[in-house]
Amino acid sequence: MTLATQPTLGLRDAHGRVARDLRVSLTDRCNLRCSYCMPAEGLAWLPGRTILTDTEVVRLVRVAVELLGVDTVRFTGGEPLLRPGLAGIIAAVRELTTDRGGPPGVALTTNGIGLDAHVAALKAAGLERVNVSLDSLNRQRYAALARRDRLPEVLAGLAAAEAAGLRPVKVNTVVMRGVNEVDVLPLAEYCLERGYQLRFIEQMPLGPRHGWDRDAMVPAAEVLARLQQHYRLIPLPGRGAAPSEDWQVLDADGRVRGRIGVIASVTRPFCGACDRTRLTADGQLRTCLFARTETDLRTPLRSGATDLELAELWQGAHLTKARGHGIDDPGFAPPVRTMSSIGG
Ligand code: 5AD
Ligand code: SF4
Repeated sequence: MTLATQPTLGLRDAHGRVARDLRVSLTDRCNLRCSYCMPAEGLAWLPGRTILTDTEVVRLVRVAVELLGVDTVRFTGGEPLLRPGLAGIIAAVRELTTDRGGPPGVALTTNGIGLDAHVAALKAAGLERVNVSLDSLNRQRYAALARRDRLPEVLAGLAAAEAAGLRPVKVNTVVMRGVNEVDVLPLAEYCLERGYQLRFIEQMPLGPRHGWDRDAMVPAAEVLARLQQHYRLIPLPGRGAAPSEDWQVLDADGRVRGRIGVIASVTRPFCGACDRTRLTADGQLRTCLFARTETDLRTPLRSGATDLELAELWQGAHLTKARGHGIDDPGFAPPVRTMSSIGG
């Protein structure tokens, strides 16, 4: 039977996992320069002609959804709000039908800047949820670690997402030793008060060269211990393929406050349950954040490959997905691309 008549054949790898979640980076550019992600001077941006057009992005997402069983799509960057065609891409993706029937789920990972201005159009296009990166509520510290003084815009973006009903609004915080550990509790309180789901992320070796130190990394267990000095945490079941381990948060007097998670990518890797596949803004397929190789889909796409041929390329590449990120292996080497051009 051909792939076209067997749409649920799916994206299997050699370790028994099936990918149903596609992350698409729409640009490698960003209006911030977070220290764990980009060097202060920025990076050499991808040349414009290598960036997939809106039509090309939608075509590859269609192949993933209609031929390969992908059922959720997350747009990332760099900063995806910098992509002029974002709402149009989302609307086109929401026209697709998954093998479960209905449109794919569509979410966005953003730094929140400009979200207040865009949120109505994005919601109308079919966007369902957002994850907003926020590492400090202190304006000076935010400006120091993002290297741009833009905290008020991020907070406005968060409030706009909540008001527009993109719920639950999720907030991502990368905790860095000696930099924003003091922000853990204020961030927790801020998010609990507003019903945002906060997730603390362990810093991964994906930023500028030599910018990561295993011993300096703040483990999730340490963040949880800090939270437990102020709250009661009850583990919530049902992690599934989700990277975050979630906790119900109660005040000392037992009042339920909300939900907080930790993403312990380094100390408690979740690679065994990974259901992701990734596409970069220049049309390279990555099986993993940490992959050392990529598969070029842009060249075949631009030289007339059929949907089925693209799907078969994707399937073949996915078979080689590594068992895990190998951060703790003696021979570990980080990927050549940084997070900003892989997409979170
Ligand atoms: N380690 C962990 N998380 C990272 N992010 C970016 N770089 C890193 C890193 N080196 C996060 C951002 C954002 C998401 C895309 O990934 O904070 O929330
Ligand atoms: Fe999946 Fe790769 Fe991340 Fe592991 S490191 S969870 S395999 S994307």
